[in-house]
Order: sequence, then structure tokens, then C-alpha cells
Amino acid sequence: MEALKTIFIALFVVLASALYSANAKIQEHEFVIQATPVKRLCNTHSTITVNGQFPGPTLEVNDGDTLVVKVTNKARYNVTIHWHGIRQMRTGWADGPEFVTQCPIRPGESYTYRFTIQGQEGTLWWHAHSSWLRATVYGALIIHPREGEAYPFPKPKRETPILLGEWWDANPMDVLRQATQTGAAPNISDAYTINGQPGDLYKCSSQGTTIVPIDSGETNLLRVINAALNQPLFFSVANHKLTVVGADASYLKPFTTTVIMLGPGQTTDVLIQGDQPPSRYYMAARAYQSAQNAPFDNTTTTGILEYKSAPCPAKGSSLKPLMPSLPPYNDTNTVTSFSRSFRSPRKAEVPQEIDDSLFFTIGLGLNSCPPGFSQSQCQGPNGTRFTASMNNVSFVLPTNVSILQAHHLGVQGVFTADFPTQPPLKFDYTGNVSRSLWQPVTGTKVTKLKFGSRVQIVLQDTSIVTPENHPIHLHGYDFYIVAEGFGNFDPNKDASKFNLVDPPMRNTVAVPVNGWAVIRFVADNPGAWIMHCHLDVHIGWGLATVLLVDNGVGLLQSIEAPPEDLPLC
Ligand code: C2O
Repeated sequence: MEALKTIFIALFVVLASALYSANAKIQEHEFVIQATPVKRLCNTHSTITVNGQFPGPTLEVNDGDTLVVKVTNKARYNVTIHWHGIRQMRTGWADGPEFVTQCPIRPGESYTYRFTIQGQEGTLWWHAHSSWLRATVYGALIIHPREGEAYPFPKPKRETPILLGEWWDANPMDVLRQATQTGAAPNISDAYTINGQPGDLYKCSSQGTTIVPIDSGETNLLRVINAALNQPLFFSVANHKLTVVGADASYLKPFTTTVIMLGPGQTTDVLIQGDQPPSRYYMAARAYQSAQNAPFDNTTTTGILEYKSAPCPAKGSSLKPLMPSLPPYNDTNTVTSFSRSFRSPRKAEVPQEIDDSLFFTIGLGLNSCPPGFSQSQCQGPNGTRFTASMNNVSFVLPTNVSILQAHHLGVQGVFTADFPTQPPLKFDYTGNVSRSLWQPVTGTKVTKLKFGSRVQIVLQDTSIVTPENHPIHLHGYDFYIVAEGFGNFDPNKDASKFNLVDPPMRNTVAVPVNGWAVIRFVADNPGAWIMHCHLDVHIGWGLATVLLVDNGVGLLQSIEAPPEDLPLC
């Protein structure tokens, strides 16, 4: 009986995939990572790019397609590419984070990423996942519905990717190196960008300002991506409403707003109507800064929404586009009401029962100056070095083999499977935390999960050094955000607030400042999946961990064999 059932299931899978692949395509691309002169803010830098483009090429696929991207590293840094939000079912070798699923691609070497998009539609992106290279190595990854299938909203006349970025008037790798040497926070950026351009409000930048066309009466789908390295951003368009229809390549119950907020890593699809007098309107982005007393880049990037029938500004005159009003930098209320508007379009398949219940604190810390370090290496607050942790473990990447390789080949001594499932010490996480709890331990600790386990993770911000809104991203999965709140999570009181009916699905959750978020998912994708804060400054400090999901039963529940060209360390 069991055997017969297995045969039927196998037959069904074969048939289903044959049907699906009827019009699925294989797309091949070449990414050459190379230094290219890029001029921004009056200065030219030797910028690391893909194929000489900044931002990098937009990939457009249909759900069901297979992407084959050969990445050749002609730059002087190690590099890897991550396909942010792609589930990578059984293809964890193509996920990309260095030393987690692969060793980096060394200068002069190449690696081919192969993966199939399975049941995802909307806006994702790709970026370097090695050091700070993603500051300039990123691009959009747009997934259209399967051929012949439609959006769950009227087809917009146009679609425009809006990549929000962060620009240093310096080599970002040098900015990171300096911070690593001093132990202090890295220098803040000099500009934000829209599709690689800072826009009219910065010096030497008006020439290149991004123009987004629209025509009276038509709809444009803006696929907004926060590709900034370290800064959550507000985004708004003067005089135009934004109808949110999706985020992180999952659809949402549409709702209308005038401003959206995206943490780094997050994407939001909004419809915008050409329903205003034909003219030119600024679209603008600037910081949402939840950490108090921390320096941040308070500049504003702009692009221009331009009606095709807009009257041409007379030669020499500078008809200024209308500027949208953006919320104050620290406007957490706006962020809260925005994120509370998120709902799945219909009843969602949220796990109702939980097998693995995890509670992870997330936050910063300070290390006292280590023995042998000079004063110049301890320029954090009061002669310390900045750090960060989850459950008091500051994550350290392996250096000579990836975690996935070590797991797959049974290499001992690379990681330990003893990441705490609960905070090792309970304290008032969002209160006045005793200084004795500010210094975490270091380690390469992972959490093992059985295939098929129904997982809940409470992500709890701490107020150590400063509370902050942390965009927490999980690789290899989409998860449901069943609740968010402020203060300390209280299972007795807060469980009753869970939305187990139509919670939104995402790959990155902006955990409220001095608050918490609860996520749920089924561990149905075997592999080593990093979960980290998408503020890159925090990854380096150790705000990360890895979920190691075992193979299930049989081939279809097991990770594929590693590709032949998987880079060696
Ligand atoms: Cu968008 Cu681990 O990354």
C-alpha cells in the first residue's frame, strides 16, 4: 500500500513537472564582475560592477523558468552572488552567501549558478554576498507569472524597477576595512540613489536623474527594492497614491498609502495611477532611522515621475517638480501602521501547530578592548569595539570550507549544532540592560531542523547599545509574519494576537524597534540557510545564524549533489 502510494506520488510529480515545463524556459546569462569607472557626486571611482553596469542587469523570468548564470570574477576581491528571496528548492549550492553555501569565487575564477523558480511571482533582486561588495553589485530579478497566467490585478500599462541604493564617495571596501580596523561604526554614506542615480538634490547629479514615464490615465507598476547597504528607507511620490499589491515576491491584499518603508532586502510592488495634471513629480526616498543618537545619512534621493504629455519646460527655465512630503526620520508610528496593513490575499497555509519553537534575541553589543589591541583599534564607545549577536552568540563565518559543504561531506570542526533555541539568560530585553550583558560570545553555531518541521521563531530586539529596527532575512524560505509588537514578547499575552488566517508572507521582516516579530514556516527545503540582519554593518558584527535543515526521505526531499564547479577555498 505504502509502495503503491509512493509510486502514485512519483508519477504525479513527473506528470506535473512535465506539464509545468511545457513552456518553462532556460535562460542563460553571463555576469562578469569587474572594476568600472563610475562617476557620481562629482567624483569618479573604480567601482565593482556586473558587466560594467551600475546598477547591474535586470533579470526577467517567468515562474517555472530556470536561470543559469555564469559568474566570472575579474575583480580583485573574492565574490559570490545571492539571489535574494529565491527559494532554491534543493539547490542550496546556488544560494550564494560566502562560507555558508559556497566558498567565494576567487579573482580569475568562475562559478555557474543554476536554479529553477518554483511558485514565486513578483519582485526580487540579486546582490553580491561577500563583504561589502553588494554596495554596488546588485540588480533586479523580476518574476512574471507563468506564460498565459495573469497578475491578480489589472495588467498595468508599464512596469518600472525602482532600485534604492546607497553610495559612498569612497571605495565601500575601504570604508569597511577602516571600520574593522578601528572597531568603530563605519562611515555613513554620502548619498542614496534611485536606479543608481542620486538625483537633483546632490551636487553634480542633475544630469543623470532617473526619469520614470507615465501617461495620463495609465497605471505604472513600480517594483521598489531597498538595495541600500545599511539604511531602512521611506519612499513616496508627490501627489500620487501608492497601491501596495505585493512584497518580497508574494502578493498582498491591495491597500493604498502615500508612503512606504522598506528595510534593506525588502521589495514592495506598488501601482501608481496617472491621475494628476500632466507635469513632473518627484519620487523621493530618505532614511527611516530608528536607532537614537547614531549618525546616519540624512540626505534625500529623488527621481522624476514624468507625464508624457507634460508641457516641456521652456529652455533655461527650471520648472521644479513637486516634492513629496516624507515622514520625519524617526517616525516609527508611520512604519507601524504601514506594516499592520499587510495581509495575504486569501486564507494562508500558516502552520497552526508548531514542532520547533525558537526564540532569538537580536541586537548590538560592545566588546571590551581585547588584549594586545591598541587604542586605535578600540574606537567604539568608551574604548570598545562594536559587535552584534543573536541569542548572545556573535556569528563567525568559517574560513576554509562552507557550512553546507561541511554538513554534506561530514567535515567535523567547522560548526557546532548548539545554537541556543532560547536566550541563554532571560532579562528585560527592551529595558535598561545591565552592562554585564553587553558582550556576547563568538561562535559558528547552527540550529538543526528536521525536514518538514513546523517552525516558529520569535525575533526579539534588545536595547543593548541601542534598540533598532532590524530587517531580518532568512535564506531559502518565505515565512509568514503572524504578529509584531513592542516591548518584550509575552507568550501568554501575545499569542492571542497571532494572525493565523491571512498573515503576509515575506523573506525579510523589519522587526520593530525595541519590539518583536513572530514568523512561521515549514522547513521543507534541505540545506544550510543563513538568517541575518540585512544591515550589512550588523552582519559583519555577527548578527546572523544558520538554520541547517536535514534531508527528508528520498531524492525529492534531499538537496541535490554539489555542482562540479563549486569553488574551492
Ligand atoms: Cu539579501 Cu543574505 O541577503
